[in-house]
Amino acid sequence: MTQTSPRSVIRGTGSAVPSTVVTNDDIAKIVDTSDEWITSRTGIRERRVLEKDQAASDLARRASERALEDAGLAVEELDAIIVGTCTADYQFPSLACVLEAKLGAKDVFSFDVNAACSGFLNALSVTDMFIRSGRIRNALVVGTDVLSRFLDWQDRSTCILFGDGAGAAVVSASDNGDRGILSARLQTDGSYAETLYIRAGGSKKPATLETVEKREHSIYMNGKEVFKVAVRSMEEISRRVLDEAGICVDDLSLVVPHQANRRIITALASRLGIPMEKVIVNVDRYGNTSAASIPVALDEVRRQGRIADGDIVLLNAFGAGFAWGAAVIRF
Ligand code: COA
Repeated sequence: MTQTSPRSVIRGTGSAVPSTVVTNDDIAKIVDTSDEWITSRTGIRERRVLEKDQAASDLARRASERALEDAGLAVEELDAIIVGTCTADYQFPSLACVLEAKLGAKDVFSFDVNAACSGFLNALSVTDMFIRSGRIRNALVVGTDVLSRFLDWQDRSTCILFGDGAGAAVVSASDNGDRGILSARLQTDGSYAETLYIRAGGSKKPATLETVEKREHSIYMNGKEVFKVAVRSMEEISRRVLDEAGICVDDLSLVVPHQANRRIITALASRLGIPMEKVIVNVDRYGNTSAASIPVALDEVRRQGRIADGDIVLLNAFGAGFAWGAAVIRF
């Protein structure tokens, strides 16, 4: 009898966003921009900004508790907590360790992966490897970011784009059936490292009075370059995972793409030949929440009952690094 490796099944999801809403009109009071400019270039109408006394782990905790409840899994049953984030509470330890303590998890291993906006897909893909190898049975996979803390609120080309949030999925091993992650793939191109990054605060340029005065602790981005490479890369990697899974575009029930910009999403859908009715867009309400964008959107569509058993869903992401990825999942 041949033994097949277990499949990774998404058993429950949860999400959390801050209650403070910042509209385009609010931003137009701070920098020279307008609701019309932001909406037409990005599709973003408003975003959520985390309250000052909260940290990324607080959002992650709320999303995680909802995911565990949705999955009907006790925190004690978790083997691992893997978090995609680039805005952890501290430089170290990892947000995953902070979250583990907040959730009261015991006898687990926890770590962060930093792939910026592709963080959730990276965390999910790594989890899939642990599950397929038989090393773990139940994992909490989280994507959370609080980029509002790293924005230059005087730079109109970036401060309009981002928002805060957290999303989580309970991923479990399944030994039979054809449900679960059919294929997942990650890719990077580090030659673009300085196309989208935070200049100071790392080991290359630690914080000094000068770096603060020069506003080097906030996001720098060449938006046009990001746009171009994002569409091309997400199309390519989406086609690869679909091929590997033996799934054609018409078999897809839904696509849950990273929510960076409505124009990137529509360009991607058009290149893949997927009608927009099958493509989830919530960037209008949350902006780009980085690693949180896919799990927040996924949780919303699951709770709306838009994913039925057997549905095949494509996830794809792109972000700083550049790092990108895609996964095909049968629910
Ligand atoms: N309001 C009004 N005008 C703005 C503006 C704002 N918020 N931001 C930039 N502008 C101006 C620029 O100053 C420039 O003016 P100029 O022609 O007088 O110099 C003009 O608009 C065009 O700027 P440009 O940067 O060329 O705009 P764009 O059409 O490329 O749109 C982005 C900018 C950021 C919306 C677009 O490049 C983008 O969405 N890129 C992808 C970014 C992204 O998703 N990053 C995250 C990936 S994970």
